[in-house]
Amino acid sequence: MPVRPIVTFGDARLRLPGAPVTRFDRELGRLLDDMVETMRAAPGAGLAAQQVGLALQLCVIEVRHRLYEIANPRIVHVSGEEDAWEGCLSLPERRALRRRAEHAVMVGQDRHGRRVTVSGHGELARAIQHEYDHLQGVLYTDGLPQGAEILTEDELAERLARDDEATVD
Ligand code: NI
Repeated sequence: MPVRPIVTFGDARLRLPGAPVTRFDRELGRLLDDMVETMRAAPGAGLAAQQVGLALQLCVIEVRHRLYEIANPRIVHVSGEEDAWEGCLSLPERRALRRRAEHAVMVGQDRHGRRVTVSGHGELARAIQHEYDHLQGVLYTDGLPQGAEILTEDELAERLARDDEATVD
């Protein structure tokens, strides 16, 4: 069962905090393989277990062609701030301007239970924070300021084109 259906916003399974991963066996390896395939097929920069309907502390991230598989993650450092248009595979074709730490460091375990550290800036830092939130049952739209807009990809493209014109006068 390679590519799995992605659970979308409104589904209660996205709100379940994940239980710790305790068995680093072949079954976990198969689940991670499926999560990677599902993320790549979407395509997206990250996927949490909740998004394939499982309440587990498990996520995958792929940014700039580097793949990370992390079980039982903790965020041990954040610094800086950055606003960027963020999206989620569970709310397809939508983006919202979301403030995140510019740098983040996550520690956890790989599929064999070995300790892994993921340290990143910009897009990778954003993915670290976004996926960590999913594992607690938190969605990126939860952290938006009052009145923040959630745009479709088309609306965002128009908005950015208009902003470009506005700055070229
Ligand atoms: Ni997401």
